[in-house]
Amino acid sequence: MQDRDLTPILSVQNLNVRFGRNAIAAVSNVSFDVARERIGIVGESGSGKSTTGRAIMRLLPARANVVADRLEFNGEPLLEKTEKEMGRLRGKDLALIMQDPRYSLNPVLTIGRQIAESARLHLGLKGDGAMAHARHMLERVRIKDPDRVLKLYAHQISGGMGQRVMIAMMLLAKPKLVIADEPTSALDVSVRKDVLVLLDELVRENNSGLILISHDIRMVAAFCERILVMYSGRIVETLTNLEEAQHPYTKGLIAAMPDPRRPVRRLKVLDRASIEANIAP
Ligand SMILES: Nc1ncnc2c1ncn2[C@@H]1O[C@H](COP(=O)(O)OP(=O)(O)OP(=O)(O)O)[C@@H](O)[C@H]1O
Ligand SMILES: [Mg+2]
Repeated sequence: MQDRDLTPILSVQNLNVRFGRNAIAAVSNVSFDVARERIGIVGESGSGKSTTGRAIMRLLPARANVVADRLEFNGEPLLEKTEKEMGRLRGKDLALIMQDPRYSLNPVLTIGRQIAESARLHLGLKGDGAMAHARHMLERVRIKDPDRVLKLYAHQISGGMGQRVMIAMMLLAKPKLVIADEPTSALDVSVRKDVLVLLDELVRENNSGLILISHDIRMVAAFCERILVMYSGRIVETLTNLEEAQHPYTKGLIAAMPDPRRPVRRLKVLDRASIEANIAP
């Protein structure tokens, strides 16, 4: 077996994000590295997960103040890149998969045209070659009738199929790092697992790094080697498995997520006072 490459693809040190000068920090002193591995970011709503992901993608609105001691992708400082350089990175070496494929897919282009465009842009394929590659990618994400789906528009496909199309489009250029922000939470429960398994399979095949962002700590634990737990803009704990959880907030998150093996009648709610008492100022 090949030794695992632990060289970081992404290195984040003391990332801070504020929306407006006097606003409280949405992300505070967040530091982590990602090599060719799968890491999860979990935390309740508003804890700063998406803001962290979008800061890396440089997709925050202009009024967001983003500073970091280091924010390096592939050894290069992301904050110094021009918009044009970022445009070249996104979708090629650095991919983002968002929650709802309906908002990320272009409504006026067929699925085939969109994937082919991505193949043209990132792989340099042309005409029939680009379309053939689009068809291949649809097969790769296990869409059964690719010839029909190539001709459809985003509104004509289901959410699950839309997310497969997004995965096909985002992973076609074999990105070094994929950020998946709640990639399945807009989907029907019955297809969530299939989509995640597929994403995981493609990420492994391409030897990409993955940042999987979710509320669901159990789901993240099933797919990731490391879990960063965020609360109120900060990383409060890093875990390699759920049993290690020490922080009351993390324990609260675990207890609040149903364990399919151990059904309970009532889910626990977070105990805020005890959480606050365990967070460094
Ligand atoms: N565009 C924005 N303008 C102003 N404030 C924002 C913006 N985006 C996020 N915030 C604020 O930043 C904080 C972190 O939000 P963020 O969206 O990163 O949380 P999250 O962990 O992704 O939550 P969720 O689980 O609901 O997606 C919140 O207080 C939020 O209100
Ligand atoms: Mg979010």
